[in-house]
Amino acid sequence: MIKAVIFDLDGVIVSTDEYHYLAWKQLADEKGYSFTRQDNERLRGVSRMESLELILRDASQRYSQAEKLAMAETKNVIYRQLLSKLQADAVLPGVLDCLVDLKARGVKVAIGSSSKNAAYILQAIGLDRTFDTVVDGTCITRSKPDPEVFSQAAQQLGMAPESCLVVEDAAAGIEAALAAGMAVLAVGTAADDPRAHLAVSNLSQITTESMLQLQLPSVA
Ligand code: BG6
Ligand code: MG
Repeated sequence: MIKAVIFDLDGVIVSTDEYHYLAWKQLADEKGYSFTRQDNERLRGVSRMESLELILRDASQRYSQAEKLAMAETKNVIYRQLLSKLQADAVLPGVLDCLVDLKARGVKVAIGSSSKNAAYILQAIGLDRTFDTVVDGTCITRSKPDPEVFSQAAQQLGMAPESCLVVEDAAAGIEAALAAGMAVLAVGTAADDPRAHLAVSNLSQITTESMLQLQLPSVA
């Protein structure tokens, strides 16, 4: 029986993909590297520094750690400028009803995100007081696909992993949730990932009842 739902933030609660893309693209253009929307898809759920490593993977030039940190900071400054446009209408379809319904049923809700901008984003969309706990990129030492972010969220909620359902839009996030021993609902571009236990295009396409009824075969 599912007693807690842990939501990824970017791409699940709110659409920030385009802002991430535009910010990385500006940095890549300045440095003379190619960066496409398809490349951006590979960065879903991946931490800022690991995203930069992926972008620089084929670069002939070698950068020091200090230079890489400066590049990541430049990207974040651009990203934060773009995020300043973010408002409550950026919340993805079905999210608010889903949260209201889960809370009415006494289900704990958490954020499990790789982002270090999570608190800022939650405040911008008016959901900074909604979740029972928020575990984000500032709390963890290992990013998705490592299970740390979800394990920490479950621990803070006082829930066993098998009582938790993770909602994810990224392959790295699905891997992390499975590694944490949790059930997974895939949304958006992750909906065709065969490893997910449930999949929908967005949260307006599923009832909270069917989310909560999910039982993992190994723990049923
Ligand atoms: C994840 C996004 O939620 O957060 C990634 O899917 C992003 O694309 C990562 O790189 C880190 O985000 P931030 O806000 O700390 O740069
Ligand atoms: Mg995501």
